[in-house]
Amino acid sequence: MTPVCLVCNESELLQQANDIAHQLDIPQLKQPPAEAELVLELNIEGLKLLRPHDKSVGALQVDFNDGALTWRRQHGGGTGQAIAKAIGLKQKKGLSVLDATAGTGTDSFVLAALGCRVTMIERHPIVAALLQDALSRAELNPEVHDITQHMSLHHGSSVDYMTSLSENSFDVIFLDPMFPHTGKNAQVKKSMQYFRDMVGKDEDADDLLAPALAAATYRVVVKRPRKSPFLMGKKPTLSHEGKANRFDIYVNKGMKDA
Ligand SMILES: C[S@@+](CC[C@H](N)C(=O)[O-])C[C@H]1O[C@@H](n2cnc3c(N)ncnc32)[C@H](O)[C@@H]1O
Repeated sequence: MTPVCLVCNESELLQQANDIAHQLDIPQLKQPPAEAELVLELNIEGLKLLRPHDKSVGALQVDFNDGALTWRRQHGGGTGQAIAKAIGLKQKKGLSVLDATAGTGTDSFVLAALGCRVTMIERHPIVAALLQDALSRAELNPEVHDITQHMSLHHGSSVDYMTSLSENSFDVIFLDPMFPHTGKNAQVKKSMQYFRDMVGKDEDADDLLAPALAAATYRVVVKRPRKSPFLMGKKPTLSHEGKANRFDIYVNKGMKDA
């Protein structure tokens, strides 16, 4: 893990800061050391990841109440969205979904807002801490909590988690591992770029497919950049192509128009 420290200067948050630093096994300080590349900061706005030496980069925070997610929830097309069609929400309501590559939780939140029960797994400790902080803050906002109460988080390896599941534990397993990105994409926010640099390329992404296929009742859905190869080179039952992404759908058991 990239060396990182936790900075907190709010006396009422020191216990929480202490717990997070202990959990992540990182130092808790009042000021970041001059050479610090990445810093976690806890203040009344929540937990944020900063890159102190690059002022052009904004802080990275998971916030289920942010403008983009709120707009998408209110005007984003509901079950007409590509991700909703891919997981089969048009045919079956109230699906249980395992998001085995939770990241910043955006896809999980979109699915929970559409009525799914979502279990998120994230292996990167800092990403998991940012997600946990977002879930905790969401409890204070009734509108958002109506959705996040149907989301839970486990920190750890999804391969281990899925391998320990019995058959038919989740209706759908959703996979969106990092894909090696070529060059810098002007469309990607700078904070997203250092998220990618921190998390790495998920070179073991192929390992996710077999345990997912064994544990999903209805289907496994893999989100990929449009031109990228199939996971494990395994042809899906069908693919939906969007502007930027492709959803590869492996149907285990039919839902009518799969
Ligand atoms: C591309 S991001 C997912 C983005 C996510 N769909 C969203 O909406 O923000 C991939 C995430 O999956 C996590 N990940 C990849 N492989 C994993 C595994 N085997 N177990 C747990 N987490 C994994 C990575 O750490 C990374 O945070």
